[in-house]
Amino acid sequence: MTTHFYTATSLDGFIATPEHSLDWLLKQDFDEEGPMAYPAFIEGIGALAMGASTYEWLRKHDSVWSYEQPTWVFTHRALETPEGADVRITQANIRDVHAEMTAAANGKDLWIVGGGDLAGQFADQGLLDEVWLQYAPVMLGAGAPVLPRALNLELIELARNRSFLCGRYRVAG
Ligand SMILES: NC(=O)c1ccc[n+]([C@@H]2O[C@H](COP(=O)([O-])OP(=O)(O)OC[C@H]3O[C@@H](n4cnc5c(N)ncnc54)[C@H](OP(=O)(O)O)[C@@H]3O)[C@@H](O)[C@H]2O)c1
Repeated sequence: MTTHFYTATSLDGFIATPEHSLDWLLKQDFDEEGPMAYPAFIEGIGALAMGASTYEWLRKHDSVWSYEQPTWVFTHRALETPEGADVRITQANIRDVHAEMTAAANGKDLWIVGGGDLAGQFADQGLLDEVWLQYAPVMLGAGAPVLPRALNLELIELARNRSFLCGRYRVAG
């Protein structure tokens, strides 16, 4: 069982603008059947975790909740959940949530959707195994940081997917 942080980023290391816009990303050309693409990745995922900003972005922009997997949303607020979806609002500690996710995932992998600091909180506990970065050909100058931690990574896979430079890294400590 592997815990992944899989995300797109600008070349200067931001996953959203300061206003939480992803317009710079959504206009890029990406082959859903190409290397390191999302459909193949999500097939191996049994449980998800995300922070409140990421959750609120998805709720605002997606008309339906698109994940079948149980999803933990970290927040200190009482956020509403989509009807019929397995969304669990939590402020429990990272280690306990990781254990719950592992139990729920039925042997599949875990995906930390974002943001970067939440992925960092899993890394702080030694619970982040891989970082997948899809680099869009954009500089944002400021925004939500991709992974604001001091971490050593080992490059284990590299590909081009149309506009994107895609790197898959193992967290080395
Ligand atoms: N480029 C991409 O592919 C990609 C991928 C993922 C996300 N994004 C975007 O990146 C941005 C990320 O936003 P962000 O940096 O603010 O990160 P975020 O993790 O989405 O949200 C941060 C919030 O999560 C809650 N939180 C985090 N850790 C917690 C903990 N241990 N316990 C309880 N609550 C916790 C807090 O919410 P409360 O204030 O409610 O307590 C915190 O303010 C979003 O705009 C998202 O849409 C982009």
